[in-house]
Amino acid sequence: MRICNIEEPEPLLEYLRTNGHVRSDEAPEFQKLSGGVSNRTVLVRRKGGGDLVIKQALEKLRVAVDWRSDPCRSHREALGLKWLARLTPAGRIPRLVFEDQENHLLAMNAVPEPHTNWKTDLLGGDVNEALVVQFGSLLGEIHRRAFESRDVIAPIFEDRTYFRTLRLEPYYEFAARRNPEASGFIQTLMVETDGIRETLVHGDYSPKNTLVHEGSVVLLDHEVIHWGDPAFDLGFSITHFVGKANHFGCAGGRYLNAARTHWTAYRGSVCGLFSGSEFEGRVVRHTLACLLARVDGRSPLEYLTALKSDRQRRIALDLMARTHDSVEGLFDALQFRLNQRLSCE
Ligand SMILES: Nc1ncnc2c1ncn2[C@@H]1O[C@H](COP(=O)(O)OP(=O)(O)O)[C@@H](O)[C@H]1O
Ligand SMILES: [Mg+2]
Repeated sequence: MRICNIEEPEPLLEYLRTNGHVRSDEAPEFQKLSGGVSNRTVLVRRKGGGDLVIKQALEKLRVAVDWRSDPCRSHREALGLKWLARLTPAGRIPRLVFEDQENHLLAMNAVPEPHTNWKTDLLGGDVNEALVVQFGSLLGEIHRRAFESRDVIAPIFEDRTYFRTLRLEPYYEFAARRNPEASGFIQTLMVETDGIRETLVHGDYSPKNTLVHEGSVVLLDHEVIHWGDPAFDLGFSITHFVGKANHFGCAGGRYLNAARTHWTAYRGSVCGLFSGSEFEGRVVRHTLACLLARVDGRSPLEYLTALKSDRQRRIALDLMARTHDSVEGLFDALQFRLNQRLSCE
């Protein structure tokens, strides 16, 4: 059965009943879940338990600028759910319940209430160090364990179409077009990252895609997952802590510390696999490119005002012109630059 829009309750109920996903006399409650920009997401509340979350990929993403991506990526997300669950401790990834490729949708078990979105907690000023450690360790575990099973996993995730259409073009290329002085740096980084096929890369590793339930993180949103450059996940995720450090200004030190803790936890969990100066150099470059992309790409951080975006842009551009010998060195430079700018403003 075709279902064009899972946000319409009547067709959704008929769809679920017809396909045997709920009993024919069952009347679940539906609730639209907001927060994402690239999918329709609906919580299906069932009496007696077994709540589901259904996600249907959109062709045109819900952002201010025109941004499109093939909705077949929902199949990639289903593969991500399956494989990530095998690579991570129980409870860190929702279980895939069913997939429907024709309708570009999937269903997974709902993370039980009560839970919070970690981005909301962080923006509310709650920086829980234990969760930062979990977040960094989980990323390291995914990178390490996927690498250890590379013969099986690499071929499944080798296609990088969605990484190109959802990350490289809208984040890196778009930001480079708006900042010609960063163009050389970003072009070189894109060529470099295109040549690296080391392990499973989540591609959307952020607090927004992390729920907190009973003191543990649960990772969501795997449609950009691919076999590639693990430094991208680090640059992308570190940027979320640095962006919040920028947002909180003089009170932002805790978020830079969280970035350091995240990196330390990651390193502990990869057990020396992804390390060394060449790797750290890549992490630094992805962090700088993401810092710029999150103000001048197609999906800017919505919590940054024009003044704060400008601060982040200037710092990223300035640091792109310098060399950094390590990720810790980058954190020191970011801390120095943020403090310097805050004292002048
Ligand atoms: N399994 C789940 N359990 C509970 N809530 C979920 C689940 N999956 C998604 N959500 C909620 O829906 C929101 C959007 O989901 P997400 O997978 O991030 O979609 P998008 O790809 O559109 O960003 C999440 O921020 C979260 O609040
Ligand atoms: Mg999301």
